Amino acid sequence: MTSPEPANANASDAAAAKEPTQLRVLSGIQPTGRFHWGNYFGAIRQYIDLQHAGDAYYFIADLHALTTVREPEVLRSFVREAALDLVALGLDPKRATLFVQSDVPEVTELTWLLLTVTPMGLLERCHAYKEKKAKGLPADAGLFTYPVLMAADILAYDANTVPVGDDQVQHVEVCRDLAGTFNHLYGEVFTLPKARVIETAARVPGTDGQKMSKSYDNTIQVFEEPGKLKKKVMRITTDSRPMEAPKDPETDHLFELYRLMASAEETAAMAETYRRGGFGYGEIKKALHAAAEQFFAEARTRREALAADPATIDGILEEGAARAREQATRVLDRARAACGLSRGRGDR
Ligand code: ADP
Ligand code: TRP
Repeated sequence: MTSPEPANANASDAAAAKEPTQLRVLSGIQPTGRFHWGNYFGAIRQYIDLQHAGDAYYFIADLHALTTVREPEVLRSFVREAALDLVALGLDPKRATLFVQSDVPEVTELTWLLLTVTPMGLLERCHAYKEKKAKGLPADAGLFTYPVLMAADILAYDANTVPVGDDQVQHVEVCRDLAGTFNHLYGEVFTLPKARVIETAARVPGTDGQKMSKSYDNTIQVFEEPGKLKKKVMRITTDSRPMEAPKDPETDHLFELYRLMASAEETAAMAETYRRGGFGYGEIKKALHAAAEQFFAEARTRREALAADPATIDGILEEGAARAREQATRVLDRARAACGLSRGRGDR
């Protein structure tokens, strides 16, 4: 396993070779907290790999996060931290366009055009809203129409490839549906996108062994403060089998985490240790801690330098927003003209 940094050319060549057309990749990630190992190994790492395979647009979905984060200062800080994390982890602003969703107001206008062709029933079936409703929790119209904003995010950049976790596939399907309806009514305005499901070897387990997630309070952040990192790793739950008994590494969440960050040789040696038995979990946690520290060490150094120089990240986001707006304006103008509104910015 290699440390986070721009992916090697071989991986990207392989990805590009499988695709018949030029890839236009787009994905968004919500700034609802600091990124954890699950976010990195489940999503961010693949975004970084794909920046070598075609045009790539990645954004921090602050408008979507508004449906859950209600403190302005907290949201502002999560957005900034997310940008620093992504660049430190290897997202290269020269290769990929990195921007903040709300810096492109064209997308919210496009959302309205799409809302006018969105059947209520389609949104009623979408899981974010459905699950909240099933739990008897109050849902707002923002959450209800969330998939339409997401559709506008995708269509505004003529994206054809949307890397997402399997929980987001339904939303990309909604996007295809809406784009198809709009095109049927008004002509070929939008590019129909496809989801590219991120196949992670395993769902990254959290400190309690279940899926790592902010909602389960079992996360380890990518840039966890060093003392905290150690504490969290040492507190990962383990089973109560006697230490002498040989164990199957494949069924152990400590091993699953170790494998993500250790080299192939280290992983093979650790698997052997499990099968031999007679080891203590404390030793394994120490090895995991060391592997994690090393795996993210370079990214951590890059992040410290970036954080100390706010103008750099500001510049990256400004430039990203300008590039994104240019693209989104072209698509919005096309959509406005097609459905009978005045043509575009110049005409208004
Ligand atoms: P959380 O569950 O902590 O709220 P999000 O839903 O914001 O995380 O996840 C953002 C992205 O990270 C999604 O694409 C999701 O599929 C991925 N992801 C989150 N947790 C994990 C995990 N434990 N294993 C693999 N991927 C994950
Ligand atoms: N809804 C996505 C999530 O919660 C984030 C997102 C917003 C997104 N807009 C998008 C993902 C467009 C892909 C494409 O993870």
